[in-house]
Amino acid sequence: MTQTLTLRRPDDWHLHLRDGAMLAAVAPHSAGFGRAIIMPNLVPPVVTGAQAAAYRDRILAALPEGAPLQPQMTLYLTDATDPADVVAAFKAGIIRAVKLYPAGATTNSDSGVTDMDRVRPVLEAMAEHGITMCVHGEVTDPAVDIFDREAVFIDTVLDPIRRKVPGLRVVMEHITTSDGVDYARSGGDDLAATITTHHLVINRNAILAGGIRPHYYCLPVAKRESHRLALRQAATSGEGRFFLGTDSAPHPDTAKLQACGCAGCFTAPNTMSILAQAFQDDNALDRLEAFTSLNGAAFYRMAPSDDRITLVRLDTPAPYPATISAGGEDVTVFDPGFPLYWHLEDV
Ligand code: DOR
Ligand code: ZN
Repeated sequence: MTQTLTLRRPDDWHLHLRDGAMLAAVAPHSAGFGRAIIMPNLVPPVVTGAQAAAYRDRILAALPEGAPLQPQMTLYLTDATDPADVVAAFKAGIIRAVKLYPAGATTNSDSGVTDMDRVRPVLEAMAEHGITMCVHGEVTDPAVDIFDREAVFIDTVLDPIRRKVPGLRVVMEHITTSDGVDYARSGGDDLAATITTHHLVINRNAILAGGIRPHYYCLPVAKRESHRLALRQAATSGEGRFFLGTDSAPHPDTAKLQACGCAGCFTAPNTMSILAQAFQDDNALDRLEAFTSLNGAAFYRMAPSDDRITLVRLDTPAPYPATISAGGEDVTVFDPGFPLYWHLEDV
C-alpha cells in the first residue's frame, strides 16, 4: 500500500528570498509553506518598517496566484536602529521579528551590530513588547576558530545579553552544535532554536573530504558528526523549543564556484522530501509535524495552520531539479546525498 503522510502546512522560520530576478525565481519554491520568516540581509539591508512593508509587497507579487505563503518580515538590527520604529512596525503588523547579525558574520552583514551595548535600548523595547530577536549566533573575532564560533558566541555574547535584558524572546537561528542544543534546552519559554534541513543531513566532511564542495558551504559552517547527531536528536525529539528554519539561501553558481565563494545552501525545492526521509530514518515520522508545523507557530504565538499537505512515498526516487534558473544564471539545488522517495503533492 502507498505510504502517505499528511501534516499541517509547514512553516519556514528562517528563509532568504532575495530580491529582483532571484526573488522571482525562488519564491515559487517556498510558496507552499504557510508562514516564513523572511531574512532582511538584502543589499542594502531592510532596516526600517517602511522598507519591510515594501519588501513584503515585492514578495507577494513574486508568489504564484493563490499561494499560501504569508511572509513574516524582519528588520535588520544595526547600531543605529530606532527602538520606536521597531515597536511601531511590530504593532502595525509589518514585522514579526528583528534579526541580529554580528557585523561581518555572514553574507551582507556589514551593517550588523558592532557592539551589543549600543543596541541595548532596542532590545529592552523588544523585551517589553514581546518582539522576538532572531540571532545569527557566531562571533566574528578572527582569532576564534570558525568551528568554535557558535559555542564562543553563546558564552560571550548571547548568555550575557539574555541576562542583561530579561524577558527578551530569542530564537537561536540555524544552530549547528551540541552546545547550541544544550543552551537552547537551558532556557525557558522565551528561548528557542531553529535547525536547517542541511545541517540535519551533512557534516563538515561533505564540504571538505575528497575535494572541496562549495554547494555544501554555508554559515554557520557544518560541524563534526557528533554535532549533526545532536541536531538530529533535537529536531526529531518533538520538543517545542526546536523547529524548522531552512535558511534556504540561494546564490548563483557563479558566486558559489569561486576562489572565495558565497555561503548558503538552496534547499527550498526539496526540503520536505529530505526531512521526511531523515525523520523516517530515525523512526520519528510521527514527530515531523511538530518540527515543521507546530512548534514554531507556538513560539511565535500564532495558531498552527488549518491547512494540510500530503507527502507520498514513491517506489522509485522522486526527481527534483539539479538547478533552477534565476535571471539567466543557474542556482544549484541542495543534494542531500541520498535518494528522495517522499514526494510533496501539489498544493
Ligand atoms: O549560509 C548562509 N547564507 N548563512 C547565512 O547566515 C546567510 C546566508 C545568505 O544570506 O546567503
Ligand atoms: Zn540565514
